[in-house]
Amino acid sequence: MKPLIAGNWKMNGSLAANEALVKAMLDGLGSQTPGADMALCVPAPYLAQLQSLVSGSAISLGAQDVSAHEQGAFTGEVSATMLKDFACRYVIVGHSERRQYQGETDLLVADKAKAALAQGITPIVCVGETLAERDAGQTEAVVKRQLAAVIHAVAHCTSEIVVAYEPVWAIGTGKTASPEQAQQVHAVLRAQLAAATQHPERVHILYGGSMNAANAASLLAQPDIDGGLIGGASLKSADFLQIVASAL
Ligand code: 13P
Repeated sequence: MKPLIAGNWKMNGSLAANEALVKAMLDGLGSQTPGADMALCVPAPYLAQLQSLVSGSAISLGAQDVSAHEQGAFTGEVSATMLKDFACRYVIVGHSERRQYQGETDLLVADKAKAALAQGITPIVCVGETLAERDAGQTEAVVKRQLAAVIHAVAHCTSEIVVAYEPVWAIGTGKTASPEQAQQVHAVLRAQLAAATQHPERVHILYGGSMNAANAASLLAQPDIDGGLIGGASLKSADFLQIVASAL
């Protein structure tokens, strides 16, 4: 299984900046086939622009959120069928920033994952503990609870999801989980997947949280770390390509 390196641009970008960034990435890749699958999860208004920029390239398109509803009176929401219209292959669900600022619950995140799968879009399900939860020894319990809600909702489709372990204390802080700390949690998640699907090894479990060009190789060398979900470093073409190269 090829590793997956996905960028999460969060609420960053402009038409001009996006074009320059993606062109620099594609120039950097040249004609080589990267050793990792690559994706960029961009703000919804830029999906059409990105669809055209990455068309025919090694980079897949992703969104950062999706509605749990199919259609209707849900002002401001974007449905999975709309994402499909722009050839989105992935969508992030349950990012800690949405759990924290938009009050998204485990149940809602699970419904979003299900809505994405119903349209053939792979949900990148984010789980992760806060610093207070880690200090209280609750890391395992928290990530297992978050993943259990999704497994319960998507049932036999569990092998089709991507999981991203993103410790909240490591996001945007420059504090990365050590490879050993991350691997420990990834192993717990793999065991949980093994109880729910016959092919737990087919599920990518990504690490996210201050992953960068310097620390990517040691994280990606861990047996249960199958890729990365990259925030800040995905806004710099050289750094993002370096992380992709580290996944070889
Ligand atoms: P940073 O890489 O900026 O810490 O963000 C990680 C993240 O939240 C990716 O979803």
